[in-house]
Amino acid sequence: MPRDRRDFFYKKAKDEGYRSRAAFKLKQINDKFKIIKKGDTVVDLGAAPGGWLQVAKELSGGIVVGVDILDIEAIIGVDVIKGDIRLDKTIEKIKEKIKSDKADVVICDAAPNLSGSWNYDHARSIDLSTYALECARKILKNGGSFAVKVFQGDMFPDFLNKVRRIFGKVQAFSPEASRRQSAEIYVIGKELLTDAVKMNGEYVVTIEDIGASGDGIAKIDDFVVFVKDAQKGEKLNIRIRFIKPHFAFGDRI
Ligand SMILES: C[S@@+](CC[C@H](N)C(=O)[O-])C[C@H]1O[C@@H](n2cnc3c(N)ncnc32)[C@H](O)[C@@H]1O
Repeated sequence: MPRDRRDFFYKKAKDEGYRSRAAFKLKQINDKFKIIKKGDTVVDLGAAPGGWLQVAKELSGGIVVGVDILDIEAIIGVDVIKGDIRLDKTIEKIKEKIKSDKADVVICDAAPNLSGSWNYDHARSIDLSTYALECARKILKNGGSFAVKVFQGDMFPDFLNKVRRIFGKVQAFSPEASRRQSAEIYVIGKELLTDAVKMNGEYVVTIEDIGASGDGIAKIDDFVVFVKDAQKGEKLNIRIRFIKPHFAFGDRI
C-alpha cells in the first residue's frame, strides 16, 4: 500500500470531501496567518486537482480563480484557467477573470515534476516560486497577501529576501500537514508594498496639503507620502524612509 494511503491527512481529505491532502496545509496556513478573509478575491497558482480551491472558496465566498497546466475539474463558484503561470498570456487571462479589480490574495502550491536530484529540484522550485512572486506583484492590491511553496536549499535565503523587499511582513512556515521528511516550506507575505515608491528612493515632490499631525502631504503616482516640517506649496527633494501598504514617510534631503 502506498504511504499516502496510510497518511492521516490523506484519509482525512477523503473523509471530508477534499480533493487533496494539501487542503489541510492551506487551512493551517490560514489559521495562523489569516490571509484569506470573507469576500476576498483569491487566485490560486498551480491549483490542480483543486483542494486549495475548495478551501479558498469556503473561506472567502468571493471570486476564486485557479490556474494549472493540467485540467481542473469544475468546482461550483470557482473559475479555472488552463495555463502556465510563467507566461504573460496566463497573467492576462487571470486579470480578465478578476475583472478590473485586483486580487486580495495570491496563493501558490505549484511544484515542478521532481527529478530526484535535490539541487536541480530546488533550483526549479525557486524558479517557479519567483514567477509566482512576479505574478502576485502584478495582480495583487496594495496591502494584499501571498503564500507560496518552496523546496528548501541554498537559494532559499535569497528568495526570502526578494519577498521581504515586496511585502511589509514576511514569515516562513511549515504546516503540520506537510510530511515531516518533506523539504517544502511555505513563505507567507502580508501587506504588499506599493511599487510607486522605493525604500531610500529619492523623489521631487510638491506638498499638496498639511495632515492632522502637522506633516506635509505629497503624492507620488497617487500614493501618499508624509513629509515632516514641510509647508503647503513647497517643492522638495525627499528620500523615502518607511513604506506601509497605503502611505510612506519621506525626509527632506
Ligand atoms: C502539489 S500540486 C497542487 C495541489 C493543490 N494545491 C491542491 O490542493 O489540490 C502542484 C501543481 O502545480 C502545477 N504546476 C507546476 N508547474 C506549473 C506551471 N508552470 N504553471 C501552472 N501550474 C503548474 C502542477 O501541474 C500541479 O498540479
